[in-house]
Amino acid sequence: MNPTTDSMTEITLLQPDDWHIHLRDNQALATTVAHAAASFNRVICMPNLVPPVKTFEQAHAYRTRILQHLQDSELSAERKVSFDPRMTLYLTDNTTVQDIEDAAKSGIVEAVKLYPAGATTNSADGVTDINGCLDVFEALEKYDLPLLLHGEVTDDHVDIFDREKRFLDDVLAQVIIKFPTLKIVLEHITTSDAADFVLSQGNHIAATITPQHLMFNRNHLLLGGIKPHFYCLPILKREQHQKVLLDVATSGNPKFFLGTDSAPHATDKKENACGCAGCYSAAIAMPLYATAFDSVGKIDKLEGFASRFGPQFYGLPVNENTITMIKTPMQVPTDYPYFDGSSLTPLMAGETLPWSLK
Ligand code: DOR
Ligand code: ZN
Repeated sequence: MNPTTDSMTEITLLQPDDWHIHLRDNQALATTVAHAAASFNRVICMPNLVPPVKTFEQAHAYRTRILQHLQDSELSAERKVSFDPRMTLYLTDNTTVQDIEDAAKSGIVEAVKLYPAGATTNSADGVTDINGCLDVFEALEKYDLPLLLHGEVTDDHVDIFDREKRFLDDVLAQVIIKFPTLKIVLEHITTSDAADFVLSQGNHIAATITPQHLMFNRNHLLLGGIKPHFYCLPILKREQHQKVLLDVATSGNPKFFLGTDSAPHATDKKENACGCAGCYSAAIAMPLYATAFDSVGKIDKLEGFASRFGPQFYGLPVNENTITMIKTPMQVPTDYPYFDGSSLTPLMAGETLPWSLK
């Protein structure tokens, strides 16, 4: 498919995958699984549940709960067959080499996630000292299991807008020297520094990019009043960073691929004096990405980013089925029912997007 952007009113892509998503657990799954499975085949499920997913047995049990909600959903039989949640383990100070070996052999754990303790939602059990994880990194490298990074330092004195760059300079630079073949995904990158870092490394180091970091910057979050539905971590940065992210995402470079970081928090937890971090985008992620790519005349690069480069990095086949998007405006719902009478407000709630799923 070689579409020319100007005349494009419809685009058919290999079915995309989401290489970074939060589905949460139990009752939340009734909403999140149906939304994710409507667009994506494989989804990499983040492990920051309460309590976190720390072993492959817990990952297996979590996957079973996800699949149960899939069966209970109103999705088509075809979507139910195609949807394939891939699991991650949550790295703690106590993760052992044996945990990694078991995970690698389990066939359902696709990667291991490192949250620096205190960096974000449900990260209290995360890693307090990366130097305590060296044996685990060695095992990941040995089993070719990717390390997914929430790449921010957590020192109280480091400005929130500098935390990603400081992580690259102070932490990641050391890790890659010690583990030169460790597969790493720098998740939800937000800065030109992170894009440059990834570009400067070999093909074993890649990055995911969210729709919000492609479409918005900190002015959208903070100008004219605080907009809590744009608040996520790592926080939106300056426009110049947004532009670089859009450049690399639409460049056709396979080091950058789709990871929505769709992170549901009930509306009342977002619109709050201490609002939770996370943008909910699962149901509208593909129209959001299409809008971002089309805004720079690069809709023809969307299939690589959304459907080819992720599987290429993870060593998985690309999907065989397809989705079609049309350049017909859609209104983003103002909210979705969540559980216990709460609601979920999506990114761009109530606004109109130029692209929709056919
Ligand atoms: O904004 C975020 N929300 N960033 C994360 O890293 C975690 C996520 C969540 O789990 O809500
Ligand atoms: Zn996340």
